[in-house]
Amino acid sequence: MSTLPTFPGKDPTQAEFWNQRFAAQFMPWDKGGVPQDLQEFVRLAKQPMATLIPGCGIGYEAAFLAQSGWDVTAIDFSPAAVASARAAIGEWGKHVIEADFFQYQPAQRLDLIYERAFLCALPPAMRSAIARRWAALLPAGGILAGFFFLDECAERSLKGPPFSITAADLQALLLPYFELQEQRAASDSIPVFVGKESWQVWRRRSD
Ligand SMILES: C[S@@+](CC[C@H](N)C(=O)[O-])C[C@H]1O[C@@H](n2cnc3c(N)ncnc32)[C@H](O)[C@@H]1O
Repeated sequence: MSTLPTFPGKDPTQAEFWNQRFAAQFMPWDKGGVPQDLQEFVRLAKQPMATLIPGCGIGYEAAFLAQSGWDVTAIDFSPAAVASARAAIGEWGKHVIEADFFQYQPAQRLDLIYERAFLCALPPAMRSAIARRWAALLPAGGILAGFFFLDECAERSLKGPPFSITAADLQALLLPYFELQEQRAASDSIPVFVGKESWQVWRRRSD
């Protein structure tokens, strides 16, 4: 029987927590590729969108968007994550930079923030700061699109990462800033998220 590795870092708000896991290549959240729903979103988009990927990890999506001709910047505050991404995605690694989501200032106006396994990576106490920052980074009409880890059991949402969120809590978090445009079950979830992953597209309201 295999046992899960243990790590000294216990606080996912600290880069060291993630450094230890990337260094050990223990990444149960990692999809190993680009989710189908994002591929479909790009296929249907009317034009390329200037995109930010917060907490990008290996950053397969950054490579995919850049290859699709989109202007993309992927950020991660873990140096080990950034090094792993650059090793994994080769020439597209130039789109990955080491930065803290809460401090990062984009060089240009964003059209899209792509979310996967970033909100659920951080404890529930961080959620309102994340939503505020998403809203601050996007102009009116900008899009927040990606995957949300839903579970109707609020108690389970306290155990993570990944920290799930109830559908009602997610709406309460985002509705002050965004309107929901689209939602459906994710097409090709990996085992840790299967049955609980929702693809959602939110549009930034004007203040
Ligand atoms: C669960 S992983 C998800 C990685 C990637 N999005 C994916 O889908 O595979 C969460 C990532 O968020 C990063 N992260 C956590 N807090 C961050 C912050 N404040 N700024 C930037 N990255 C952060 C971690 O280093 C880690 O790579």
